[in-house]
Amino acid sequence: MKKINRNIIIGLAAVGLLFTSCHKDKNSPGYEFMPDMYRSPAYRPGESNPNFANGLTNQEPVPGTIAHSFDQKGMINTMPYPYSNSNQGRDSAAAFLKNPLESTASALAEGKRLFNVYCSVCHGLEGQGDGSVVSVLIAKDNYGLKPPAFNSDQLKGISEGQIFHATEFGKNNMGSYSSQLSAYERWQVVMYVQELQRK
Ligand code: HEC
Repeated sequence: MKKINRNIIIGLAAVGLLFTSCHKDKNSPGYEFMPDMYRSPAYRPGESNPNFANGLTNQEPVPGTIAHSFDQKGMINTMPYPYSNSNQGRDSAAAFLKNPLESTASALAEGKRLFNVYCSVCHGLEGQGDGSVVSVLIAKDNYGLKPPAFNSDQLKGISEGQIFHATEFGKNNMGSYSSQLSAYERWQVVMYVQELQRK
């Protein structure tokens, strides 16, 4: 019994040696069992591809179409914003842009949380334009950084579209928030700003 076992082992080793030693190319890994496990039949993005006329795997979008994505809430996130960064664009957004979200207690609560994180440093927790950054700068010099209060005559009447527009492009000393917050999140913030307008 022992003898047979040893013969099998020697036999297997010899066969194994055959597979590994008989390659001319020293860099070749030798014989591969089930090579698909190592090499995926799918084309990789940068690889040439005989199936397309231009020979590329990565194809351009179809002319006239726009690549877009949905955020986790299913809202189109990367569609171009249709209003321009100008007074005229702001007026159009103020008149026509509407909040696509349903106003719920949880949306408002999330809007408040995001406002406190992103906006309150300038606008203040109550939207009075007295955030921590503003008070520090005003103590030194007023760089025009103090925003008007949301419930002031100047801002209490501005529409949801105009508020959203401010988060898209910013305004004067205020920067854009379109890369920090998704459109979905900014519409939640808009709801909370409207609450501060009514205070
Ligand atoms: C760096 C300070 C700063 C931050 C942070 C900031 N703002 Fe402002 N914001 C301002 C200033 C200053 C103005 C006044 C701009 C002007 O009219 O010249 C302003 C104006 C506005 C207006 C009025 C726009 C209009 O059409 O008159 C809205 C609405 C607004 N901010 C919303 C927000 C929201 C929402 C956030 C957070 C996502 C935010 N801001 C973050 C400084 C800031």
